[in-house]
Amino acid sequence: DARLRMFQAMTWAAAQRGDHASRLMHHPWRANPYPTHRRLRAQGALVRSRFGFRTATSHALVQGILRDRSLGVRPEGPTAEPTGVDLIDLSFLTRNPPEHTRLRALARPAFTPRMMERYAVEIEKITHDLLDRALAKGRFDLMADFAQPLPIAVITRLLGVPDDDHAAFVEIGAAIGSSLDGPRSARHLRRIQDASDRLDALFDHLMRLRRADPREDVVSSLTAATDAGEITPREMAAMCRLLLVAGFETTVNLIGNGTAALLRHRDQWDLLTADPGLAGNTVEEVLRYDPPVQMTSRWVNRDTSIMGHELRRGSYILCSIGAAGRDPDRFADPDRFDITRTDASDHLAFSGGIHYCLGAPLARLEGRIALHALATRAPRLRPAGRPVHRPTTTLRGLAAFPVTTGEG
Ligand code: HEM
Repeated sequence: DARLRMFQAMTWAAAQRGDHASRLMHHPWRANPYPTHRRLRAQGALVRSRFGFRTATSHALVQGILRDRSLGVRPEGPTAEPTGVDLIDLSFLTRNPPEHTRLRALARPAFTPRMMERYAVEIEKITHDLLDRALAKGRFDLMADFAQPLPIAVITRLLGVPDDDHAAFVEIGAAIGSSLDGPRSARHLRRIQDASDRLDALFDHLMRLRRADPREDVVSSLTAATDAGEITPREMAAMCRLLLVAGFETTVNLIGNGTAALLRHRDQWDLLTADPGLAGNTVEEVLRYDPPVQMTSRWVNRDTSIMGHELRRGSYILCSIGAAGRDPDRFADPDRFDITRTDASDHLAFSGGIHYCLGAPLARLEGRIALHALATRAPRLRPAGRPVHRPTTTLRGLAAFPVTTGEG
């Protein structure tokens, strides 16, 4: 029915790229996928599953595949063109060159070093405001009170969403983000579709505002590009959706997974509180040790050979980012969480090649500021319950994590 079609449209990318993997998922895997990664890696760098696709498990091979231009994020050929129904489908995350090149260039100005300097001031302020409120409670939920609202506040400002619309955006973003691993029920599906309709209306409204009164934000520049005919209105909407979802769903998990790892390895937390300047390297180690995006995938569009593996046109390959971060051939003692590791930033958490995460500088900045502030202001922070993992697979993160400041 129409709702189902809408859902299929919105999650095309996730389904296309995560469907096979999701069949492999069950609860124990989610709670701790790393033993499974180790077993898979022991079978080889490229493991064939009984579903017919192959999974790259070694750091070198995953990196080689992501960098090889014979592979793409969608198959090539007449049947592989975007249908135009799916709005995320038209974003550059799921397009091959030349469309990828054209569309990515339009979003790039939002992520320059100069823009990062501007965002840093705002991120500091948002972080400390959130911590003021959370720490005053004594016991709080690290996810709901800190890790979730921070990136959401940042991305809504980056897109230039007016303050009045923030609450609606947060609700819509959460509903759309929850669609990435598929609908859980008919009710969930309805929630996703309603969110999608409301998002279209909000972006329409925002575009009209910016056309009349342009600012230095992403929606203003994309509106100008749309009016100049450089980008279609549907591509514009897709790009805004991509930025919204990418900004909502990933950095949240960097902060959550990072805090959970630090509190589980108390010696590492103590190192960070003694020297908060380690926050930047801590972010890299979290991205290696427990990456928020666990996998991506590629289609082989031209026969190629990578590190002795013959890849035939038409095949589909899962790239395990989670396994690559724990590859003993790349990282010494890979299961050890060590925030002083000097080569942690060689992780593949932001992918590689032409689809390397455009938001990486922003994610790193937010992660560094968040962990620095937490370690400085709540050095006695400790768990007040078990972290609860979200029922998701491609994205890895926590739904809730009760903590206490340890004061009073
Ligand atoms: C792409 C991870 C934060 C925007 C990607 C990809 C990964 C990734 C793995 C590439 C997927 C592939 O190659 O198939 C992450 C992680 C983040 C993060 C782990 C946080 C810790 C952000 C933020 C933004 C963002 C904050 C923007 C606000 C994007 C965009 C792309 C992308 C636009 C598409 C790039 C392209 O296809 O050329 N991200 N991301 N990301 N990310 Fe991020």
